[in-house]
Amino acid sequence: MLYNKVRKRHILASEIAAVAALLACASLLGQNPAAQNQATLVDSGQSLFQRDCAFCHGRDAAGGETGPDLTRSKLVGDDTEGSAIAPVVRSGRAGQGMPSFNFSIEEMSSLVAFLHSRKTKVEAQVGGRRDVDAADLQTGDAEAGKRYFNGSGTCSSCHSPTGDLAGIASRFRGLQLEQRMLYPEDARSKLTVKLPGGQTVAGTLAYQDEFTVALRDTGGQYHSWSTDDVKFTIDAPAEAHVDLFGKYTDADIHNLMAYLQTLR
Ligand code: HEC
Ligand code: HEC
Repeated sequence: MLYNKVRKRHILASEIAAVAALLACASLLGQNPAAQNQATLVDSGQSLFQRDCAFCHGRDAAGGETGPDLTRSKLVGDDTEGSAIAPVVRSGRAGQGMPSFNFSIEEMSSLVAFLHSRKTKVEAQVGGRRDVDAADLQTGDAEAGKRYFNGSGTCSSCHSPTGDLAGIASRFRGLQLEQRMLYPEDARSKLTVKLPGGQTVAGTLAYQDEFTVALRDTGGQYHSWSTDDVKFTIDAPAEAHVDLFGKYTDADIHNLMAYLQTLR
């Protein structure tokens, strides 16, 4: 069963984190040069990433204005020691906005180590559930899904089967539809920034990481601030989906999928 698999993976991620913490302690004591090397590798990968990649993929690799989220990329997930990442970085994807880069083998392995460490971090966070097994999509009960949609799932408080979700099953199929449901992409979050002088500026969230927040105002103008300098609030409607994660059971998801697939 897929979702059980994913739960196991969470445990694994926390175990990895625990082992990594142990190794980090050991390396502080000078006892584990391998772990120390790994940490150094990730650090230099991070600097390279900030210099050459963050512009498009975001500082934390979780996606930027033009580049996709690499922490949730299947390609990065399938990669072992650069097998999948290195070819993309070397050749780029001309026409899709991904430039090509000429890195030494050491530089490339540091970038790869950084991307894997980002992915592990993101997966260790709650809600890191991802892959979906196609077979799981066939097993739901559409009537039960409809009841859940209108009842305890609270979906109907934001969506309507004859409004925004009308025809959703014709626009997206199978896994793609499930992914839209679990990770809505088009949701626009609103950012409100309070400037030191007390003035507030609001607009559509355009960028966010630990250090920077940015928005686009109604005129399409881009503004960014250092997170140290301002107070801000983010209103993210799609977070309802993230909150719902913890509440879905496997059966709820299968039933919902069966129901959504009737909306043609
Ligand atoms: C100018 C913007 C830009 C820069 C700079 C950039 N990328 Fe990309 N990258 C993209 C876009 C756009 C895609 C998606 C291309 C597509 O749709 O196939 C992509 C795709 C990728 C992928 C494949 C993801 C997948 O799931 O298929 C990897 C890996 C990647 N980039 C790594 C990097 C690394 C590492 C760097 C820095 C050395 C970098 N990128 C720099 C824009 C950029
Ligand atoms: C608090 C409001 C809220 C709740 C509750 C909510 N959603 Fe959403 N949902 C959104 C927003 C916002 C989006 C992103 C905007 C969009 O893509 O239409 C979205 C997107 C989606 C999408 C993708 C639509 C598309 O066109 O790509 C699906 C499918 C979906 N939700 C299903 C559900 C289901 C099923 C539930 C109940 C388990 C649910 N939602 C609960 C706000 C909500």
